[in-house]
Amino acid sequence: MTWNHTSISRLLKIEYPIVQAPMAGGITVPKLVSAVSEAGALGSVGAGYLTSFQLDQQIKEIKGLTGKPFNVNLFVPEKEAGISKDDILAMKGVLEKFNMPAEDISFTYEKSQSNYEKQLEAVLQNDVPICSFTFGLPSIEAVRELKRAGRIVMGTATTVEEALLFEERGADVIVMQGSEAGGHRGTFKSSADSCIGTMALVPQAADALSLPIIAAGGIADARGIAAALILGADAVQLGSVFIPCTESGAPSAYKAKVLSSNEDETVLTRAFSGKYARGIKNDFIQKMKPFENSILPYPVQNEMTKSLRSHAAQELNSENMSLWAGQGLRMITESLTAKEILDRLIGQVNAVTDSSWKGLNANGS
Ligand SMILES: Cc1cc2nc3c(=O)[nH]c(=O)nc-3n(C[C@H](O)[C@H](O)[C@H](O)COP(=O)(O)O)c2cc1C
Repeated sequence: MTWNHTSISRLLKIEYPIVQAPMAGGITVPKLVSAVSEAGALGSVGAGYLTSFQLDQQIKEIKGLTGKPFNVNLFVPEKEAGISKDDILAMKGVLEKFNMPAEDISFTYEKSQSNYEKQLEAVLQNDVPICSFTFGLPSIEAVRELKRAGRIVMGTATTVEEALLFEERGADVIVMQGSEAGGHRGTFKSSADSCIGTMALVPQAADALSLPIIAAGGIADARGIAAALILGADAVQLGSVFIPCTESGAPSAYKAKVLSSNEDETVLTRAFSGKYARGIKNDFIQKMKPFENSILPYPVQNEMTKSLRSHAAQELNSENMSLWAGQGLRMITESLTAKEILDRLIGQVNAVTDSSWKGLNANGS
């Protein structure tokens, strides 16, 4: 038995227990997702910000490019917490002070709930084999419907407590996201400042859960993959490594930042979206620091900074972009194709592992 034969590679029907993280916001485009799946790992669509129509199109495009399994990741909608008009005006004032465009809020919980339900329909109707959820628990009915249709359900947790809630809800696999991870924290129940690192989170989750787990956060080379498997994970999920790759949809200025930044250049910030997310420090994050108390909760802050972020992407201005990335940045130095990245990782894991180290428990036995 070799390292790549885990309960997750069997369950997800993939050759290697490596998942390309879903990355909403235009990064995990069909070209990337299909290239990853074709190379024997699991490609994932970050569908969080897609309309159900866009998602339907993307699924069809991926299916035209690969017959291998892939995953669609959805954001479980959150209710906006009692925000007054004055709160919104105050944030508008802050953004305008820096000559930053402040979007008028068109968000409503009902609108995003309705889009989410249609996204689920697109997943079901197009026979997507794996569906993962972030920012909360899907309803019992949604999980039941997916499982009745033979789909694999995965959920993101940042503590053992959250993982147990996903297990109780009927998920098949849990993604344990450590605080090194790039992008939004998937925290939905635990305290936002718990921030448990992958090294501590994975073995504790492995001991507490009966479901297989995927380790995410700060893993960027073969040593990280081998370590995560030793800690008790059955697979790994890598995000930042794929941002600068040839097939990624990230703007070139963002790719360049990922390639040139180091481990000490990311921070957890609420400035862009109102929810803690890890990204490379830039002017916008710095400017928003004195206004920490005026930052509105997700998804309202996210909506307000939408045009700021899209202008920044058009102008290739990395100082106003949300440059989500994890703490493994110094290990990411080359823009390769997805297949080159995976071939290199797989070759290196083959070299650093043998069949004897997998499956230790907390007692080392
Ligand atoms: C740019 C970016 C966008 C992300 N978007 C999502 C998302 O849409 N859904 C999700 O479950 N996780 C998302 N994540 C988090 C990843 O699933 C994963 O936890 C993280 O990338 C792992 O850490 P790493 O970046 O150090 O590899 C995102 C991460 C990044 C870097």
